[in-house]
Amino acid sequence: MILPSILSLSKQLIRQALHPGDAAVDATVGNGHDTLFLAETVGASGLVFGFDIQAEALQAARCRLEAANLEGRVTLFKESHHRMADCLPAEVHGRIKAVMFNLGYLPHGDHAIITRPETTVPALDAAARLLVPGGMMSVVLYTGHPGGPEESEAVIRWAKKLSPHRFQTMWVQLPNRNHAPSLLAVEKRREAP
Ligand SMILES: C[S@@+](CC[C@H](N)C(=O)[O-])C[C@H]1O[C@@H](n2cnc3c(N)ncnc32)[C@H](O)[C@@H]1O
Repeated sequence: MILPSILSLSKQLIRQALHPGDAAVDATVGNGHDTLFLAETVGASGLVFGFDIQAEALQAARCRLEAANLEGRVTLFKESHHRMADCLPAEVHGRIKAVMFNLGYLPHGDHAIITRPETTVPALDAAARLLVPGGMMSVVLYTGHPGGPEESEAVIRWAKKLSPHRFQTMWVQLPNRNHAPSLLAVEKRREAP
C-alpha cells in the first residue's frame, strides 16, 4: 500500500515539525505509543509532556518508556488535557513544537471512559496557544463509539473557526469505510500569508 494509515500519517506530519531538542505534548497518553514516538523524536535534549486521566494508562505508558530507557525526558500528568497550560512549565509556553491527540477510549481498557467535547475543545484551544509558530498539532478522531460522532463534529467545528491567517488546517478522511478514524492536522503559521 502506498497510502499510509491515519495513525502513521499523523506521525509523518508531526515528524516534519519536531526535531531533536524540541518540546512536545501527548494530550492523550493511553498506552504510550505516541508518547514513546515523541520521546524518540525529541532525542536526549528534548522534553515530552503527557496527559491522561487514567492511572492505568499512565502506568502502561511508564512501563513502555522505561523499557526503552526514555522515561527521563518525559513528564506524565494525571490530569485532563484541558489543564495543560496550568501544568506545563512557563518556559515552554509558546515553544511547543508538536501536540498529539488520539481521542476516544483506551484500547483494552474501560470503553466508558472517553474523551469528551467539553474538555477536548478547551484542550485544543490551549494547545493552539502553546504551539510555537511552525508547530504542528495532530488530532485522530473516531466515530464508532457512543459520543464519538458528536465529539468529532465539535472538533471540526472548532477547526473551522480557526483564523486561516494564523493556522493552516487539513482534515483527512477515508470515505469508503464506515466509522474509520479521520485525521485533523493544524499547523501554526510562521507568518501571516
Ligand atoms: C485512544 S486512547 C490514546 C491512545 C494513545 N495515544 C496510545 O498511543 O496508546 C485515548 C486516551 O485518552 C484518555 N483521556 C480521556 N479523557 C481525557 C482527558 N480529559 N484528558 C486526557 N486524557 C484523556 C483516555 O483515558 C485514553 O487513555
